[in-house]
Amino acid sequence: MLAIIGGTGLTRLKNLNITHRQVIRTPYGEPSGALTFGEINTHQVVFIARHGYGHTIPPHEINYRANIWALAEQKVKRVVSICTVGGIRDDLPPGTIVVPNQLIDYTNGRKHTYFEGGEKPVTHIDFTEPYCPKLRARLLKAAKASHQHVLDGGVYSATQGPRLETAAEINRLAGDGGDMVGMTGMPEAALAREAGLSYAAIAVVANWAAGRGDSRHHVDLAAAAGVFDTAIEHVHRILEALV
Ligand code: HPA
Repeated sequence: MLAIIGGTGLTRLKNLNITHRQVIRTPYGEPSGALTFGEINTHQVVFIARHGYGHTIPPHEINYRANIWALAEQKVKRVVSICTVGGIRDDLPPGTIVVPNQLIDYTNGRKHTYFEGGEKPVTHIDFTEPYCPKLRARLLKAAKASHQHVLDGGVYSATQGPRLETAAEINRLAGDGGDMVGMTGMPEAALAREAGLSYAAIAVVANWAAGRGDSRHHVDLAAAAGVFDTAIEHVHRILEALV
């Protein structure tokens, strides 16, 4: 079974034939909402809306540990994360879809590991490749098969939020090698690795990051709404091809 974590703009999957929902409790508390089980083209899928189904949970208050734990308990092996980002690199305007291959974590104070509390031996997961190369390759193949244009690779900068960044902060992220910026990529990716899940992301560029693009003095979240909606349609096509 494939798991899909939906981000901003994707609180439900249009092409998912829902069979049932299930409330799950975990040792780490409650996930963002009930898990939604269903089928895409007869393939079993479990979906969770990262920010809650009413989009009320801000990035720093998401219970990432409970979300990943709940999915892992369903004997899920692969997790595809859908996330929205601001475009930093010149060739990432709103509407672009990227399958990132690297990330840099700037978040702080989030519950970011299962290895704490002294009950389990200390474990250092390998995180050289934060996104599963095999699942990335499958996503890229699915994009190609469904004729959706996606960029292969890019560095996801995970910021704390919920405020957007300053222009200087974006310059710093760019200097560090960041190509796009979002608030939910971490610790989700690391927790998935700790839980032994294969995890990859589809990043949808919703806006130019602060100080980039045409409106250099503010981040224009509204202007790009149309292209964003179209991009989400493309994401649906990719997921259909993936399953
Ligand atoms: N910054 C951080 N997170 C985001 C942005 C952004 O500009 N756009 C969408 N998520």
